[in-house]
Amino acid sequence: MRTRCCCFCICVFAVLLNKACLQVTVEGEVGGSAVLPCSSIDNHLKKEDITVYWRHNSSQNVYDIIEGEGSVERQDSAYKNRAETFPIEYMKGNVSLKLSNLQFNDSGKYICYITKAHKNPSTQLFVKDRGNHGTATRAERIVSFLILLHILQYI
Ligand SMILES: *[C@@H]1O[C@H](CO)[C@@H](O)[C@H](O)[C@H]1NC(C)=O
Ligand SMILES: *[C@@H]1O[C@H](CO)[C@@H](O)[C@H](O)[C@H]1NC(C)=O
Ligand SMILES: *[C@@H]1O[C@H](CO)[C@@H](O)[C@H](O)[C@H]1NC(C)=O
Repeated sequence: MRTRCCCFCICVFAVLLNKACLQVTVEGEVGGSAVLPCSSIDNHLKKEDITVYWRHNSSQNVYDIIEGEGSVERQDSAYKNRAETFPIEYMKGNVSLKLSNLQFNDSGKYICYITKAHKNPSTQLFVKDRGNHGTATRAERIVSFLILLHILQYI
């Protein structure tokens, strides 16, 4: 309920800025991969406009795109060689993240901050676990991602 309320507030904020807000659920299996969608509404971007911060559970650094260049310099070691974006898509505003070799603890909330000219947050992404209880049925091996996207661009 609290999450819903929070989402609502943020959506309202987004609408006020004449931007979009959407919520997506992505599922992946342990050992598999998932593409976490994130797009900027603005699809006529210049390279220097494309600065994006992907974060997991609010703080962990999954991936950065700095002025149109992918960067793993400050990446948390847990995502090493498991996170990729698609440079060919950047100019179209598509800064989706592919996460491979999924583990249970990859579940949770993902935030995709799209910044313009180094200002603040833009796109959010929540990943949630469906919960697993020991016995290894196939269903229990599914990692469930709940993705909440907020696109708030600061121009
Ligand atoms: C998930 O757990 C594994 C094994 O305990 C650990 O190596 C990895 O760093 C954790 N992943 C994250 C994202 O914290
Ligand atoms: C963004 O790029 C990824 C990887 O190529 C693709 O799977 C996805 O469909 C694209 N999303 C959009 C909105 O074009
Ligand atoms: C992130 O949060 C989710 C849901 O609270 C949790 O299941 C997951 O283990 C967390 N992962 C990390 C690496 O903090």
